Amino acid sequence: MESVLITGAAGHVGFALTQKFFHEGWRVFATCLPKDRMPAFTEFAEHSQGRVRMFDLDITDAQNIASVATTLKNEPIDVLFNVAGLTVQSDIVFGQTDYDLWDKHFAINTKGPMRMCEAFAPHVIASKRKVMMTISSRMGAKPNYGFVGYRATKSAVSQVMFQVGLALKDKGVIAAACHPGWVRTKNNDNKGSLSPEQSAAMLYNVVVNLTPEDNFKFFDPDGTTLPLVTQQTQPKPYAMT
Ligand SMILES: NC(=O)c1ccc[n+]([C@@H]2O[C@H](COP(=O)([O-])OP(=O)(O)OC[C@H]3O[C@@H](n4cnc5c(N)ncnc54)[C@H](OP(=O)(O)O)[C@@H]3O)[C@@H](O)[C@H]2O)c1
Repeated sequence: MESVLITGAAGHVGFALTQKFFHEGWRVFATCLPKDRMPAFTEFAEHSQGRVRMFDLDITDAQNIASVATTLKNEPIDVLFNVAGLTVQSDIVFGQTDYDLWDKHFAINTKGPMRMCEAFAPHVIASKRKVMMTISSRMGAKPNYGFVGYRATKSAVSQVMFQVGLALKDKGVIAAACHPGWVRTKNNDNKGSLSPEQSAAMLYNVVVNLTPEDNFKFFDPDGTTLPLVTQQTQPKPYAMT
């Protein structure tokens, strides 16, 4: 049976992915912050006949990651799916950048996935599919106003996946990044165009159709590839202090 490890598995997209992979017959290592173990998530795992195993995992905590990697040391992991992320609107006034918030974005959105790829490389290399996928965002590829910490760290994580792909190419690993679509969550006041379930179904298709030629690529949820930086003709101007 194939297996997937998902970070942020109790979040909107993370939980939908957990359910999608489970319903497709996979084993799921569903990891999340301890405070995120909400009843629906826990109940789902408890009724999975052991196919969904929950782990408390903070992707900014190296010791926590190492401990889960050790617990799973004999488990091949076909897909490492880095879903956990931080989205906070910030820095809309040039000259008043909140650097502490930027550091937090960087720790979660950029270094977290890198830490996960390094720690779980042996598990992924030992599997059949050998896929490492990280959810980035189109906002990291599109020059526009605001969300500086978020945009910069999502842009950077696409570069991280490129580096991972280069490092592990000879071991057969396929490392890629993806945009989940504009998904209805608390972060966008439920204004997105896709439900978490629709996004998860599309991302599942992207992952199961990856081939070695897809190493380093950045995917839209419909499976088309995106450039790492796009042009926007009329980005909104910045407010100044
Ligand atoms: N929704 C969209 O339209 C959209 C668009 C582009 C990209 N994305 C990306 O898609 C991914 C999933 O986001 P979502 O929309 O499903 O939002 P979400 O529900 O907020 O999911 C993100 C999850 O990551 C968790 N998390 C935060 N810090 C963590 C840490 N240090 N360790 C482990 N888990 C941590 C969050 O926990 P807490 O809630 O407790 O902080 C949350 O459960 C994110 O990477 C996001 O940036 C979303």
